[in-house]
Amino acid sequence: MTHAFRGRSAGTLTVAATLQSDWVEITFADDGNGMDSTVLGRIFEPFYTTRFGQGGSGLGLSISLNLVTGVLGGSLQVASEPGRGSRFTLRLPLQAPSSVTV
Ligand SMILES: Nc1ncnc2c1ncn2[C@@H]1O[C@H](COP(=O)(O)OP(=O)(O)OP(=O)(O)O)[C@@H](O)[C@H]1O
Ligand SMILES: [Mg+2]
Repeated sequence: MTHAFRGRSAGTLTVAATLQSDWVEITFADDGNGMDSTVLGRIFEPFYTTRFGQGGSGLGLSISLNLVTGVLGGSLQVASEPGRGSRFTLRLPLQAPSSVTV
């Protein structure tokens, strides 16, 4: 809502999950504003936000990446283009690792 649909009155979020033997792939896609390549290249950096001073801390996606790759033992990728929305793809093992090194 904050990023994808800023300045828009409507939009669609799509959540889908697919089971692939020992993995599940979860996609979370919006058809909103999207991101240019400069923003896209930095979104997982801690404290990187395009909403500085307007409520953004820049920690949301950094924490998400750490949780997905660390605690859950999976991967997180994003594809986006300006004006064409964003798609986040999580690949998670059905069995999370029993211990993680932080
Ligand atoms: N669905 C999206 N559509 C367009 N841009 C996005 C989307 N999700 C994230 N972004 C961009 O990625 C940047 C980093 O996201 P992140 O969640 O880390 O920080 P934030 O949302 O700005 O602040 P916080 O989540 O800490 O409140 C955002 O500032 C925004 O520019
Ligand atoms: Mg956020």
